[in-house]
Amino acid sequence: MSNVTVIGTQWGDEGKGKIVDWLASRADIVVRFQGGHNAGHTLVVGDQVYKLSLLPSGLVRGKIGVIGNGVVVDPKALMTEIDRVTGQGLVVTPETLWIAENAPLILPVHGALDRAREAARGEHKIGTTGRGIGPAYEDKVARRAIRICDLAEPETLDWKLDELLLHHNTLLAGLGAETFTKEQLKDFLTEITPRLLPFSCQVWDRLDEARRAGRRILFEGAQAVMLDVDHGTYPYVTSSNTVAAVAASGSGVSPSSVGFVLGIAKAYTTRVGEGPFPTELHDQTGRTLGERGHEFGTVTGRPRRCGWFDAVLIRRAVRVGGVSGIALTKLDVLDGLDEISICVGYELDGQMIETFPSAPGAQARVKPVYETMPGWKETTAGARSWAELPAQAIKYVRRIEELIEAPVTLLSTSPERDDTILMRDPFED
Ligand code: GDP
Ligand code: IMO
Ligand code: MG
Repeated sequence: MSNVTVIGTQWGDEGKGKIVDWLASRADIVVRFQGGHNAGHTLVVGDQVYKLSLLPSGLVRGKIGVIGNGVVVDPKALMTEIDRVTGQGLVVTPETLWIAENAPLILPVHGALDRAREAARGEHKIGTTGRGIGPAYEDKVARRAIRICDLAEPETLDWKLDELLLHHNTLLAGLGAETFTKEQLKDFLTEITPRLLPFSCQVWDRLDEARRAGRRILFEGAQAVMLDVDHGTYPYVTSSNTVAAVAASGSGVSPSSVGFVLGIAKAYTTRVGEGPFPTELHDQTGRTLGERGHEFGTVTGRPRRCGWFDAVLIRRAVRVGGVSGIALTKLDVLDGLDEISICVGYELDGQMIETFPSAPGAQARVKPVYETMPGWKETTAGARSWAELPAQAIKYVRRIEELIEAPVTLLSTSPERDDTILMRDPFED
């Protein structure tokens, strides 16, 4: 029996939320360990649709949810989300939600700086969610962040706010954006402190206790390997590491607790925001994938860019992310296509290459080399067993396994929780 860590292997929105919700029935605790409310995870359970950004998806199953120290927490967004899901019948109390007291906060200055910088970047903009994720992580590394535990110490807050504002107001003024007063930030913090502090605790200690008691932990990644600040399409990435190794440092547990790494991959590829995307389709097939897959960002509502499955990128995600098995989602979206292509290599400046380059210019120039196979006419939507899948769909899955050098251990055939095929239980690995 092991823990399981779920990570995205493409550019996000692979269906991590659905898979985490499904797996959570086998876990006791679900832990978010990086990212913030830039994430948007959609869970469909019967006639209820849950849209979660900061809350761990396991809360929907009544499991304990944990927000680890690696997450950047916007307290207003968190409270709004808690109110929303409470209205849908979920129970979110300090008993069911533990938030690391050493997690850094996202303050209004961070969103303002994120948006002002994006505007100033013009055609080189990253296409961020505008939610202050980058500036909040920068403050953490620069040792300027206000952390949740600081809220209990007004004297600490006082000098930390001075330092924070000196930095941010200089930048905001330079960018021609509105600056903030200390009073504004103090008012913001005073309002959220009484609601936020009761959830905060020493998460690392509680998780260690849980480990000793033999409880199963499911780590829920946000974003994906191609958005990882080191391994992704830098600078068109998010500001955290998204690989499974971070589950340990982002929640304060041993690296051996990470367990089975389940990489989530869509049966095709999507991306929101700017940056290289070799298999992007600008034709009718791309539009068909977008329409059938309802490819609109959960957080920003932006249409997602769509393209064929890129086996080269996933093979890299498998290696750098330490992926033990893949959950392949949205297979149903490919139903009825005459032909399906898989990217098996690239051409760069007239040369064949088998790995994705690192420099942005080269990343933008690579041309995908495709292998094409016939599609299937039957429907896979809603299939719950391997036996229900058409032979050609099975061939597609098998070919993907060969190319990415990892087994497909779960398949998803609709947004609905139970439309899932389990080939190998990651908790039993
Ligand atoms: P996440 O960010 O990785 O959790 O993914 P999102 O929730 O942002 O986006 C995935 C979208 O696809 C959501 O709207 C899901 O309800 C939906 N989805 C997940 N799995 C499947 C599937 O197998 N088939 C279809 N058609 N939709 C799916
Ligand atoms: P989930 O967890 C898809 C993208 C943004 C932008 C880049 C940087 O739902 O898969 P940021 O606001 O993080 O500084 O934006 O990263 N991005 C995501 N794309 N899914 C996400 O999360 C994302 N989180 C950030 O669109 O391109
Ligand atoms: Mg999402």
